[in-house]
Amino acid sequence: MESALNKIFHWYKSEKDNLKEKKCDIKFVKELIFKNYDELLNTTLIYKDNFELKDYLIIHSSYSCVIMMKLAKMYGFSKEETINSGIAGLLHDIGMFFIPDEIYLSEKKLTEEELEIIRKHPEEGMLYLLNFSDISSKTISAVYEHHERLDGTGYPRKIKDGEISFMGKMLQITDVYDALSRRREYRKGYFAHELLKRLAFLTKTSLNGDILKKFLEFFPVYPIGKKVLLSNNETYEIIDRGTNPFRPVVENSNGRIDLNDQGFWSMYIVKVVNSQE
Ligand SMILES: [Fe+2]
Repeated sequence: MESALNKIFHWYKSEKDNLKEKKCDIKFVKELIFKNYDELLNTTLIYKDNFELKDYLIIHSSYSCVIMMKLAKMYGFSKEETINSGIAGLLHDIGMFFIPDEIYLSEKKLTEEELEIIRKHPEEGMLYLLNFSDISSKTISAVYEHHERLDGTGYPRKIKDGEISFMGKMLQITDVYDALSRRREYRKGYFAHELLKRLAFLTKTSLNGDILKKFLEFFPVYPIGKKVLLSNNETYEIIDRGTNPFRPVVENSNGRIDLNDQGFWSMYIVKVVNSQE
């Protein structure tokens, strides 16, 4: 049976052309998330690099939907608000569909002019979502704010901490975490533990540190599905967060190792292995 994550991914993918013409009915997505509520909340997100880069945006959005729902649940949001958070995650980059393909799919370094066009996507997304009465105002604000930063260095309005909604701050962390965990056209590597360092650094100025702490209570420092080289010179796949976010459970054809198990304390992760290595 198709997983709930796949269902929302396929919904988004099938609506791509309608979206470009601004003819997509967003109403259906709320129903889809509502019907698959429990399964989406219980989804384990697996970060493999075997996706087509043209699907990047939709995969990133689908994962962001699940992350936002999990985070909302951790904060004790009601079911309605948890769904609204999920919709914000799923549709936060919807404005990108209104940007010409040659800019948004460009593999070249973008010019300042092109970047200016890309930076319009939060506003474009917000304006489109305003057409749908059953998309909550909190969801729409979060979409509009997902590239703002607490110190005013974001875009499009350069608003600061006190002016950014809580859901907007949740979405900022979600967006950065998921995006940094993935391979991109211009960046083969990914970060894993480096990711945490980067996120922690960003909380000094531009992201909310309390939300990041909450986030790391349930989200792994080493994303599940990534491969790592251990000190025994063998490559393993991360299969579970385990009890210590820095010492996850790993597996290869020789067996499974819980790095936090006393018997394996002498072993350690040397590096994250790029799937192309
Ligand atoms: Fe974005």
